[in-house]
Amino acid sequence: MKGIILAGGHGTRLHPVTLALSKQLLPVYDKPMIHYPLSVLMLAGITDIQIITAPRDRATFEGLLGDGSSLGLRLSYAQQEHPRGLADAFLVSADHVGDDSVALILGDNIFHGAGFAGLLQSLARDVQGCVLFGHPVRDPERYGVGEVDEFGNLVSLEEKPLKPRSNLAVTGLYYYDNQVLEIARGLRPSERGELEITDVNRVYLEQGRARLVQLGRGFVWLDTGTHDALMQAGQYVQVLHQRQGVRIACLEEIAWRMGYIDQDECFSLGARLAKSPYGQYIMDVAQA
Ligand code: G1P
Repeated sequence: MKGIILAGGHGTRLHPVTLALSKQLLPVYDKPMIHYPLSVLMLAGITDIQIITAPRDRATFEGLLGDGSSLGLRLSYAQQEHPRGLADAFLVSADHVGDDSVALILGDNIFHGAGFAGLLQSLARDVQGCVLFGHPVRDPERYGVGEVDEFGNLVSLEEKPLKPRSNLAVTGLYYYDNQVLEIARGLRPSERGELEITDVNRVYLEQGRARLVQLGRGFVWLDTGTHDALMQAGQYVQVLHQRQGVRIACLEEIAWRMGYIDQDECFSLGARLAKSPYGQYIMDVAQA
């Protein structure tokens, strides 16, 4: 399975912080935001990942993550000239996907929860159609919204409905089989001029091949779309770290625990950042 992280966009809702810097490079407590979605793909067992950026930001992302080889990954970069909607990712990254299945994650989505890695890996094994991940929120009208019947089957999908049929937001993580490329090619822009991911998902729904996996209340899904949400996400990560001593989305630790690199390699990655508590943490986990 291939991975795509969508980190294009202008982050206009976060101006002026994003006037000169990509939103997905802003810090969420102790690390750049893109660490969080990248860690999700790594935990799913996906190592061949393309990062889609705005032309202006590509070099900065490459400067941060390089070709991924030090983490045992294969990272590539593609440019999106203008933000044309999430589904445009499949047009931009069609060569990267090839004839494989694909996981798309939005570069500003943060997920955390016990058992997440196991769930991600088991669902990635044989993707038929699409797999969406739903999470209850208080303000579903801000998101894609899924409605499920009494058996948990997905029955409707709407993008930012004025009157949501449920409180289940469709999160920014999506698994697709290879048909997604063809579906994306056939899409027409929505009223707001975008290629909507919800329209892709609706095609699968009409085919009876869309599944919504509900992430229950033991999971956390955080938004970073406003200044307050961004700060709260940082505080969440800080609380976990200060209370439990864990650093979530530590790529070096995950690469080692997933077997992409060995313990010595993990330690050396920490040593390069040894003056920061983040680097120290990596060295400590690799020595434990
Ligand atoms: C996008 C999708 C929406 C989804 C959300 C998740 O919205 O269109 O369906 O629920 O991401 O973060 P956007 O953030 O682009 O407004």
